[in-house]
Amino acid sequence: MRILALCLLVACVHPVDAVERPIDALPPVPAVPPDADTIVQRGAALFRTASCVGCHSPPFDDAVHLGGGRDLPTIFGVFYAPNISPDPDAGIGDWTEADFVRAMRQGRAPDGRPYWPTFPYMTYTGMSDDDLHALWTYLRAQPPVPTPSRPHEVRPAYRSPGLLGLWRSLAFRPGPLVDDPGHDATWNRGRYLVRAVSYCDQCHTPRNRLGLPLRRHDMAGGANPGKGDVHPNLTPDPDVGLGTWSVDDVATYLGTARKPDGSATPADDIMAEKIRDGFAWYSQADREAIAVYLQSLPADAWDPEQWRMVRRMRDRAEPPAR
Ligand code: HEC
Ligand code: HEC
Repeated sequence: MRILALCLLVACVHPVDAVERPIDALPPVPAVPPDADTIVQRGAALFRTASCVGCHSPPFDDAVHLGGGRDLPTIFGVFYAPNISPDPDAGIGDWTEADFVRAMRQGRAPDGRPYWPTFPYMTYTGMSDDDLHALWTYLRAQPPVPTPSRPHEVRPAYRSPGLLGLWRSLAFRPGPLVDDPGHDATWNRGRYLVRAVSYCDQCHTPRNRLGLPLRRHDMAGGANPGKGDVHPNLTPDPDVGLGTWSVDDVATYLGTARKPDGSATPADDIMAEKIRDGFAWYSQADREAIAVYLQSLPADAWDPEQWRMVRRMRDRAEPPAR
């Protein structure tokens, strides 16, 4: 147990050398016919807002809807999002709905294999039965794609199945998110979208060297260990967080990437991609619910820009001039 933890620790301090493929197109997602079943329409919107789109229908010019292929460099190696189309050989055409629910809720394949957490089931486990059913119905209504999935390139140090089991036992709490009766419907909706659908918390909360979220700085900002990119503080702190943003400011940002100071997130930033291809599909009411929930969080003056880990990553990325 301790040796495994140590392995994780040692590897986490190594930089990720793989470079992500840049986005060069819009995602290949076909429009949903206006006369489609309402459940298919809901599933289509969830496919966007839950960001399935970015990994399984990525914005690459040679990508195919549900064919997968997004490259995901991590400390464990490079993962590739698989084909989840209804093709029985290359995709998940021979799955039952129960297999799908198990994958999303338990993070396990039909044969029991645990999935790597680059598939964000840590978030999707919280989705409601209704939303999982809508997603499944939508996926089943899409054309099959015969292209096989690309195998992951897991680093040799991480090929032990025990490691993933250990990580899951430390970090994964499966089960749908239950409404908090102490708050109103808008707040509960916002919390659900932040925690169970759009995994805002996974990016905007810092992690320790084992990849576990630092709960004491929940939503106070995180970083991408590979690139030194900072994910800003979303708590209502007036200096480093969203304390000066109104509900409308946050809702506008989530639809357009435009900030209240007149600036905008650059188009090649991961957050701009999430907005363009995903969060822009939220209704105005849902974007406001997210904002209401964020405003209710405790303000935390922690600044991810000053995080030692971020400064070290940046030093590594740009060696000082001699
Ligand atoms: C950040 C990228 C990413 C996002 C977002 C994502 N996935 Fe995946 N997904 C993956 C990866 C990587 C795997 C493979 C995991 C493994 O092999 O351990 C996977 C696996 C799956 C599988 C299992 C496929 C199989 O053949 O076993 C299903 C089903 C799936 N994803 C559906 C979804 C749905 C539905 C969504 C949106 C709600 C989604 N994924 C969002 C990356 C992603
Ligand atoms: C894949 C990681 C990722 C996810 C998921 C994500 N974000 Fe972000 N977010 C970022 C990054 C990176 C930035 C910095 C963009 C910039 O520099 O303008 C950012 C910026 C923001 C900002 C602007 C803050 C500021 O001070 O400029 C807000 C607000 C925000 N995100 C809210 C959200 C919400 C709400 C969600 C979920 C619905 C979410 N984010 C999901 C990575 C992410």
